[in-house]
Amino acid sequence: MAVRLAVLLSGSGTTLENIFTHIEQGNLDATVSCVIASRSDAYGLERARNHGVPETVVPRKNFADTESFNEALWAEIRKYDVDLVALAGFMCMLTVPDDFANRILNVHPALIPAFCGHGMYGHHVHEAVLAYGAKVSGATVHFVDAEYDNGPIVMQEAVPVEEDDTPDTLAERVQAKERELYPRAIQLFAEGRLQVAGRCVRILPRGA
Ligand code: GAR
Repeated sequence: MAVRLAVLLSGSGTTLENIFTHIEQGNLDATVSCVIASRSDAYGLERARNHGVPETVVPRKNFADTESFNEALWAEIRKYDVDLVALAGFMCMLTVPDDFANRILNVHPALIPAFCGHGMYGHHVHEAVLAYGAKVSGATVHFVDAEYDNGPIVMQEAVPVEEDDTPDTLAERVQAKERELYPRAIQLFAEGRLQVAGRCVRILPRGA
């Protein structure tokens, strides 16, 4: 049966759109049960509406702290019977209830553990990579745990940093890689092929 997703986002939602595209093309066995945004101006909400998917806003700015925000967020997620939470440009700290351990995926636009952690999101990441003079960057899909960008890595691939890159050109190259990796990781989850042991994720062969 298709894996049921809650997608959490804060911005334009190109990551969500890519999930829809892969589902519609028949190479991702998933359904998006709900889209939840942390800001009411997130364009990803419009994308959800365009695909007939229920969307809600839990505005981060309405809550004094991470705990109260997460209480409201998880109450919303739990209205839907989802198998997996997929972060798609979600720029807030998420707490992980015990029953969602290894059931939340994130895609990060760099090679974790480099250029990640608090404040490292979206364009800040690409600016930091260029300022550092790194020769490679990339995309990482990982399970979410209690710390920023810290959980077990599911997939990771590099892209080159070119000498004349701007944050925009590097972002485009990295996001193309994200668009390949994230649906593949979700599909592996759907097939029950991600085995987590401590920090390490083993990808099981088909039918194992
Ligand atoms: C993506 O590049 C994603 O990897 C990044 O934000 C972008 C969201 O784009 N996420 C992070 O930086 C999380 N630390 P989108 O809003 O168009 O999907």
